[in-house]
Amino acid sequence: MIALVVTGAPLTRHVHRGVALARAGGRPVAVIATAAAGSWLDHDELARLDVPVLDTHRPPGTPKRLPPPDAVVLAPGTFNTINKLAAGIADTYALSVLCEALATRHPMAVVPFVSRSLAGHPAWPRSLATLAEAGARLVDPRTGGPWSGDPLEPGTGDTVAAAFDWRWVL
Ligand SMILES: Cc1cc2nc3c(=O)[nH]c(=O)nc-3n(C[C@H](O)[C@H](O)[C@H](O)COP(=O)(O)O)c2cc1C
Repeated sequence: MIALVVTGAPLTRHVHRGVALARAGGRPVAVIATAAAGSWLDHDELARLDVPVLDTHRPPGTPKRLPPPDAVVLAPGTFNTINKLAAGIADTYALSVLCEALATRHPMAVVPFVSRSLAGHPAWPRSLATLAEAGARLVDPRTGGPWSGDPLEPGTGDTVAAAFDWRWVL
C-alpha cells in the first residue's frame, strides 16, 4: 500500500490523479491528509475513486484501518510539514505516518512545495538535508528530477501543481 500524504498547498487539489494512476498500476493507495489539506482536496473525485482518506488517529481500542505502507509519498510537502517531520514532531496522524516511515527507513518521496517567501528561513535547508540524509528522495515539483534547491516563484503554485506528473513519485 502506498500512503499519499497531502498538506495545505495547491498540489493537494490534484491528488486524485495520483490515486487513479497508482490504482491503474495495480497498487493500493490511501490518502492521508493534514487538517490544512482538507480545504484543497477534491472530495467528489476522491469519493468517486472510493479511496480511504484519513486525517485523524483511530480511536483507542479500535482496529488499525490500513496495513503498514510499503512506501510513503509526501506531495506536496509544505514548509510546515517538512520542518516538523525533520524535527521529529508527530502531533497529528499525518505526521505520525511520516515520522514512522522516516524512522524505519521505508521508501519515501518528498515533493517540497514552498515559495521564495518562506525558503529563506534557516530551518528550511536544514530540514531538507535531514530528510535526504535519512534516505528520503526529494523530488522537484517542476521537473520530477532531484530537488533543485530553488523554491517556487511566488504565484506559480497553481501552474506547477496542474502540470505535476504523479508518475514522478509513484
Ligand atoms: C492559498 C494558500 C496557498 C498556500 N500555499 C502554500 C505552499 O505552496 N507551500 C506552503 O508551504 N504553504 C502554503 N500555504 C500555507 C499552508 O497551508 C499553512 O502553512 C498550513 O499551516 C500548512 O499546514 P500543513 O503542513 O499541516 O498542511 C498556503 C496557504 C494558502 C491559504
